[in-house]
Amino acid sequence: MNSNIWRLRILDNCLCVGILGLGMSVPDNILTNSDLEKMVETSDEWITKRTGISERRILENGKASSELGYLAAKQAIEDAKLSPEDIDLIIVATITPDYSTPSMSCIIQNKLNAYKAAAFDINAACTGFVYGMTIAEQFIKTEYYKNVLVIGCDGLSRVVDWKDRNTCVLFGDGAGAAVLGRVEDGFGILATKIGADGSLGNLLTIPCYHIDESDIEKRLHENKHVIWMGGNEVFKFAVKVMEQATIDVMEKAGFTIEDISLIIPHQANKRIIDGAAKRLKISNERVVENLSKYGNTSAATIPVALYETYKTGKIKKGDNIVLVGFGGGLTWAAGLIKWNK
Ligand code: ACO
Repeated sequence: MNSNIWRLRILDNCLCVGILGLGMSVPDNILTNSDLEKMVETSDEWITKRTGISERRILENGKASSELGYLAAKQAIEDAKLSPEDIDLIIVATITPDYSTPSMSCIIQNKLNAYKAAAFDINAACTGFVYGMTIAEQFIKTEYYKNVLVIGCDGLSRVVDWKDRNTCVLFGDGAGAAVLGRVEDGFGILATKIGADGSLGNLLTIPCYHIDESDIEKRLHENKHVIWMGGNEVFKFAVKVMEQATIDVMEKAGFTIEDISLIIPHQANKRIIDGAAKRLKISNERVVENLSKYGNTSAATIPVALYETYKTGKIKKGDNIVLVGFGGGLTWAAGLIKWNK
């Protein structure tokens, strides 16, 4: 660690922002690889070897994705030892809102009775939680708001084409939440980096109902309201941006890879995570993986993995943790946190 940069940072930014509480929720319903063998031409062996996923959680019929977000949020507020009326702003990162309007954040605000909170959704696909955390940090640092609830919540099972083996084996449903607020000096978020390249947007698409069919390529029409992905291209992009975004936040904070205790990456594919870890020259024990249990839950993967890692005692106060993701858009983001809890 470059201690001069670090000291300057403390002096420059006495208002430090960190995570006060965490929560998560996944559906009870488990869909295993052998269940999928009965639905499409695939095998447990192919899915495990090519992705690292063994099972995923799927929302029961009739249940809204926002229910998962609400449960995760409630737990995060309790973990922060706050009550819903202490929350000033709710940001939900989602690409599968229950409605175009009301937003998922407004639905959750109402369920929580967080009546003092402003609320809006953001769309940065799987990168959304780190985008949300970055937005929350700005509001708290400028003292516009004190406590901001950020939720990553997606029900990808609702938009998956269950006949497309290229995508249906990858996704699951879930939600993770964090309450952000002021923390003691020298702790909390040290650096963030968010990025996007809209020219690659056609590599991962979920068209809306109102889309003008003449504007999109034929391949999108065939399954027009479901997810479509150029898997190979996204794979290569993902490995590169996960490495670069991690380097960017380490450089911003004046750190090197030796200073990082844990990386919590977006959980899309084990081979992507391993590829990025190899390029960063960080051992696998310092990279969190839980995708075999949940698959890719989009905006929820990072907060869910963070929650599980924290609750199992693997994160200690003072540890430097990198959260890093990529997703539709295409987008990417990373955040470096000196753990404050
Ligand atoms: N079972 C069996 N065979 C399959 C399956 C399956 N489920 N899916 C694809 N195949 C076949 C293909 O048809 C192909 O067969 P062919 O050679 O006869 O044409 C073969 O397997 C190889 O296909 P590839 O696409 O080259 O396989 P790859 O090793 O690239 O793995 C995968 C595909 C898992 C999708 C990988 O590319 C990947 O993980 N990409 C990144 C996906 C990702 O991270 N997306 C993030 C989205 S996040 C968000 O924002 C929502």
